[in-house]
Amino acid sequence: QEDKFKKVVSHAKEYGFVFQSSEIYDGLSAVYDYAQNGVELKKNIREYWWKAMVQTHENIVGLDAAIFMHPTTWKASGHIDAFNDPLIDNKDSKKRYRADVLIEDYVGKLDTKIEKEVKKAAKRFGDAFNKEEFLATNARVIGYKEKGEAILKRMGKSLENEDLADVKALIEELEIACPLSGSKNWTDVKQFNLMFGTKLGASADTAMDLYLRPETAQGIFVNFSNVQKTGRMKIPFGIAQTGKAFRNEIVARQFIFRMREFEQMEMQFFVRPGTQKEWYEKWKETRLKWHLSLGMGKDNYRFHDHEKLAHYADAAADIEFKFPFGFKELEGIHSRTDFDLSSHEKYSGKKLQYFDPEINKHYIPYVVETSIGLDRMFLAVFSNSLQEEELENGTTRTVLKLPSVLAPTKAAILPLVKKDGLPEIARKIVEDLKWDFNVAYDEKDAVGRRYRRQDAVGTPFCITVDHDTLNDDSVTIRYRDTMEQKRVKIKNLRSIIKEEIEI
Ligand code: GAP
Repeated sequence: QEDKFKKVVSHAKEYGFVFQSSEIYDGLSAVYDYAQNGVELKKNIREYWWKAMVQTHENIVGLDAAIFMHPTTWKASGHIDAFNDPLIDNKDSKKRYRADVLIEDYVGKLDTKIEKEVKKAAKRFGDAFNKEEFLATNARVIGYKEKGEAILKRMGKSLENEDLADVKALIEELEIACPLSGSKNWTDVKQFNLMFGTKLGASADTAMDLYLRPETAQGIFVNFSNVQKTGRMKIPFGIAQTGKAFRNEIVARQFIFRMREFEQMEMQFFVRPGTQKEWYEKWKETRLKWHLSLGMGKDNYRFHDHEKLAHYADAAADIEFKFPFGFKELEGIHSRTDFDLSSHEKYSGKKLQYFDPEINKHYIPYVVETSIGLDRMFLAVFSNSLQEEELENGTTRTVLKLPSVLAPTKAAILPLVKKDGLPEIARKIVEDLKWDFNVAYDEKDAVGRRYRRQDAVGTPFCITVDHDTLNDDSVTIRYRDTMEQKRVKIKNLRSIIKEEIEI
């Protein structure tokens, strides 16, 4: 699995999907750039989401709020006081860890250790096997594991300060029981705020302290009344937006899974108080359906319902996806109550209420949100699509089986040879199709190699112009996934491709 992840990262780079940011200066940790193919895949995912959420919902409208927001926003939202991760430094290695991730690593390692102990004991059975000794060791290891899991459960944004000493003590015990970092010299655990600060204004004394938004949601909350009134929206209704968010994350080395600058696709759905449970269930189901519509296998998804809830939520669940490193959160669905709107009303002094004509009442709406990371969705799609196939002739082919609707290039037009008028016909097909979807032209190397190049970037169709084309106005269309080839009329190409790329 680790191998698979390495292949994903190197394929993304080699084929122009994702580069490390500022690579010529040795990069910037947990910041990435999307290259020629990556930018298209990312755009297609964004559009696929937007179509499903905005275009096809009469009662959901879009928004593009600024990244900079008035600093009081973050006081009201609770981010200044509570958007923290617990961090711990190792004094010897000078390495910094997120305490919960570190404990997770240890607990994972303990699993292997318990397994090893059992195997060792089984081997010794019959010899001078000391049952008491074995049971004592195992009990100790299992004890750490249970304690670790209990602390992990309590961890996160809601971790109380007085628990931090406990966390440190546990890390020290775990390090002795199951060495991972190779040293015991830890600092105290500190809460570390994840927001990036910056300044607005030219002169030092009038400059205003700002934050880069850590979620796009607040741009929607502060615009709630503006949109509701100007759009004459009736509850229930939603506001959707995609855009950058920034978090000074402590962990790195997870490629685009956890980044410091990333993009979110969020939708806040405003409902009548008391109906939030119903809407929460509905959005859980609707969002899972969206994922399944891409055809990436239903066994790759599962729900994780949260037991421990953030201060603003009355229910929360993740849609988890099976990444190369295991099931991890891909999207969150949260029932956020009236926490955000009430708090903004309090801090701004502006009424953020809604008059509901059906029940003749004013109230602050409740919110159910769906929130997915675009980059994380990119990683899910990309890693799931990357496959190596053994072919009948004994060779392997690397193919990116992207859902066609998301593929960066829909078709590659290939003249069989660079003469006899074939390039001209191929160029004409490109000219004709390029207004409807992205197409590529490639005349270099043998056609088999050109097919492989297109397989590697996920192009669903290769269209070959050969000498017969001169007589029959037909071309060969080759399907990426099956490698099946068919003879079709040039004039039918557009409709054939269109039909296949629309889900
Ligand atoms: N408005 C709610 C919110 O922001 P979240 O669970 O903190 O909730 C939502 O984030 C989604 O954003 C996550 O499910 C994940 O897909 C994505 N996300 C969060 N932090 C990220 C990061 N550092 N890098 C990439 N994606 C991230």
